[in-house]
Amino acid sequence: LVKHVKLFGSIHSTQIEAQRLAEQGAPEGTLVIAEEQTAGKGRLGRKWHSPAGKGIWMSFVLRPLIALPYAPQLTLMMAVAVCRAIRSLTKLDVGIKWPNDLLINGRKISGILIESATEDERIRYCIVGIGIDANLDEEDYPEELRSVATSLKVESGQPIDRAELIGAVMKETESLYELYQQEGFAPIASLWEALSITLHQPVRIQAATDLIEGTAIGLHPSGALIVEDANGVRHTIFSADVQLSRC
Ligand code: BTN
Repeated sequence: LVKHVKLFGSIHSTQIEAQRLAEQGAPEGTLVIAEEQTAGKGRLGRKWHSPAGKGIWMSFVLRPLIALPYAPQLTLMMAVAVCRAIRSLTKLDVGIKWPNDLLINGRKISGILIESATEDERIRYCIVGIGIDANLDEEDYPEELRSVATSLKVESGQPIDRAELIGAVMKETESLYELYQQEGFAPIASLWEALSITLHQPVRIQAATDLIEGTAIGLHPSGALIVEDANGVRHTIFSADVQLSRC
């Protein structure tokens, strides 16, 4: 999958650089990696804390031949890829919180941001951004992140080889993307479900207008989350912040 790698010391955001390259026609598999991001972007307009030399901050170009409503499937595919890569190199018990946050002991270890450029309901390209808190120490986190974020180093007690982890993530991505192209979303959904810490759990979701409380009962074929409330009404959630009620 990986065709070209562009390495940066410090950059605003690998996401924006990969997007610039994609606009210039960069092929699928163009990968941008930075030691530090000065304006790292998170989901839902948030910032992503990306200190120098401590984490994996990278974005790559995908050019999937799928219709726009299926783009969320790629989000779940990437969560599985990163989760499997971390599990293969550490013995840590990483789980996926819908749609694609990776958590250890209730704290976030990695986030994935997929942005799609479209034209006439078709996807021109997607930029897949991955942030993994690899070797951050407790003191690398600003106060407000300390209770919600953690790193592989903090959790396992030892630093991780970032190059090896990047290699593992891209290898998992390549094999899952191949599976997805050949067999569709169903096998990816099963893998996601097996690693999910959201399914069958009570959840609280702040949707656009109201608060939905219920149990996450399954995945919609698009990759959306199906939540059943106390009245037995089913809600299909396409994009939101999910709180696991027990955390
Ligand atoms: C999230 O909010 O959970 C998604 C975070 C995604 C962060 C990564 S770090 C590499 C890439 N460049 C960015 O600016 N953001 C993504």
